[in-house]
Amino acid sequence: MKTFDLISRVVVFEGDYELSAEWASLLKQAREAARNAYTPYSNFKVGAALQLNNGVIITGNNQENAAFPSGLCAERTACFYASSQYPDTPFSRIAITAINPKEKLTKPISPCGSCRQSLLEYEQKFGQNIEVLLAGEEGEIYLFKSIEDLLPFSFSSNYLP
Ligand code: THU
Repeated sequence: MKTFDLISRVVVFEGDYELSAEWASLLKQAREAARNAYTPYSNFKVGAALQLNNGVIITGNNQENAAFPSGLCAERTACFYASSQYPDTPFSRIAITAINPKEKLTKPISPCGSCRQSLLEYEQKFGQNIEVLLAGEEGEIYLFKSIEDLLPFSFSSNYLP
């Protein structure tokens, strides 16, 4: 028997003020998107903003439904829209944040497994890393340089015949 470690690296910023102008702008747009989330059931509002390589910014937010599984997370709303409208244009960065009206989020939000898997698909499709910025409403901000850092040892098309 033996063991091996799966190692992920995270860059930690103390707050918005440490971000580059590009990331600060993308995060601002993710925060605006979060405000427009449709969340009558959880009241937990998630916003995502991604930048296509042609400069276009696409935002998304979570859309809930009385039949719970019919809803969709913010990240997938954004990346599915991007891929449907710009199928040949990669994106290399996405900012994700959330608003919890019940209690201010002082830590970065962590994307669910399905959203990580969906984002990985586009990273692999275009052969280009997607950087992921994760923020709460205040406090530290995390930057992952690749979806693979958020989803190590992942399932991918490599396994398919
Ligand atoms: N949610 C997202 O939009 N993204 C995630 O990565 C995690 C969860 C949404 C789904 C649901 O509308 C609400 O947050 C509470 O789970």
